[in-house]
Amino acid sequence: MDPNSSGLAQKLAEAGQSHLLQFWKELSPEDQRDLLQELQGIDFQEINGFFKSAMETSSSSRHEKMDARMEPVPREVLGSVTRDRESLKDWEVKGLDCIAQSKVAVLLLAGGQGTRLGVSYPKGMYDVGLPSHKTLFQIQAERILKLQQLAERKTTAKCCIPWYIMTSGRTMDSTKDFFSQHKYFGLDKNDVIFFQQGMLPAMDYSGKIILESKGKLSMAPDGNGGLYRALGNQGVLDDMQRRGIEFIHVYCVDNVLVKVADPTFVGFCVQKGADCGAKVVEKTNPTEAVGVVCKVDGRYQVVEYSEITLATAEKRSSDGRLLFNAGNVANHFFSFPFLRDVVQKYEPQLQHHVAQKKIPYVDPQGRLVKPDKPNGIKMEKFVFDIFQFAKTFAVYEVLREDEFSPLKNADTQDGKDTPTTARHALMSLHHRWVLNAGGHFIDENGTRVPAIPRDGAEGSVTDDGSRK
Ligand code: UTP
Repeated sequence: MDPNSSGLAQKLAEAGQSHLLQFWKELSPEDQRDLLQELQGIDFQEINGFFKSAMETSSSSRHEKMDARMEPVPREVLGSVTRDRESLKDWEVKGLDCIAQSKVAVLLLAGGQGTRLGVSYPKGMYDVGLPSHKTLFQIQAERILKLQQLAERKTTAKCCIPWYIMTSGRTMDSTKDFFSQHKYFGLDKNDVIFFQQGMLPAMDYSGKIILESKGKLSMAPDGNGGLYRALGNQGVLDDMQRRGIEFIHVYCVDNVLVKVADPTFVGFCVQKGADCGAKVVEKTNPTEAVGVVCKVDGRYQVVEYSEITLATAEKRSSDGRLLFNAGNVANHFFSFPFLRDVVQKYEPQLQHHVAQKKIPYVDPQGRLVKPDKPNGIKMEKFVFDIFQFAKTFAVYEVLREDEFSPLKNADTQDGKDTPTTARHALMSLHHRWVLNAGGHFIDENGTRVPAIPRDGAEGSVTDDGSRK
């Protein structure tokens, strides 16, 4: 095999990426074969185009603040677990009804690399240290099973909630093996569908693709918005259509409190006739680095904290809440026709976002360098980039302590979004469930534990809500 005779060298030269072959002669025949295969699978002109437009968008948006173009979510598209209590039951019934008719699917975004958590396996396989030692995947699988049972009580027919799991080149095999080893946690294996998102090369600031070793490109998943391209090219949309899916709940693997296919959220969006919906939690601290759902130039969008001035972040409405308080938690509802339009029509219009990173590389002498400051970019699309295309958008506000506790970082003292905070969030939720249901806890001596928890009360409840 020779890159010259296959026309590859020419293709690379035209794309300004010839340096990818600079160590060719030093590679073993196996490494040469792997590199050739990798390079042949890449459309370099397309990648160069992505780089150019991502860099242009990122440099113009860096200077421009959004403030003047933003409007908060209007009350008429908003549903709230605290402010619309009288409607919750109706929404739940509606959602359960859709689930019972097997019209609802869940879609898990699990293609991330989990670099901050720092484990070598997929994040869904992580055990946050619950008494049961259930992993994130198991917790989510069991919630789907339970919901199927609850929905089946409404009808004589069997209901099915298909679970679409997006992985990446780096997480696909281990994710599939894990599910197979655990017998799909009791779910029917035909209803757990794995698919793979795309990968993109990391590039230096001049648009040259970075080599992570002499014969290997530095590749990373193309962001959770890579979902839309993958849905089309992996046949997932067709599978949904075959099954008669009408509504899809999309969520992230790392939220230990996620309510998969939450019937109330689904029912709310369906009743609103929404094609796209976002679950949000209230942002209460103006400087919290969370994106907010709002309107920009009349269209829905997530605006990052860095894109607004502090003065706007601090603005309050007459009820004392922050004006822009709809904190995005990457938990979405899509109607099937909307998702299909996004995949078939709108996806190519989405721009990649630029993340500046410290990317290990081989220098021209072939030495591996681990930079201590950012030396290049990764390009990613985001799952919420498609809000702008929605015709009827709905926003559903839930309580953070009930529904959102993401696992992002490894444990450190007083760390944010760690295994410890995730474990405490779930146990505290179950603790409240027991108390709200009229139960109480006793300690090892049989003495009743006061309802207000004290330090060290953690071991008294199991993560499925029962008393230990
Ligand atoms: P994050 O942006 O928090 O990334 O992903 P991450 O990979 O979990 O962690 P870091 O940033 O490397 O530390 C939020 C959600 O989006 C998914 C993740 O799996 C997680 O559920 N995701 C992220 C993808 O599915 N694909 C991607 O390319 C990126």
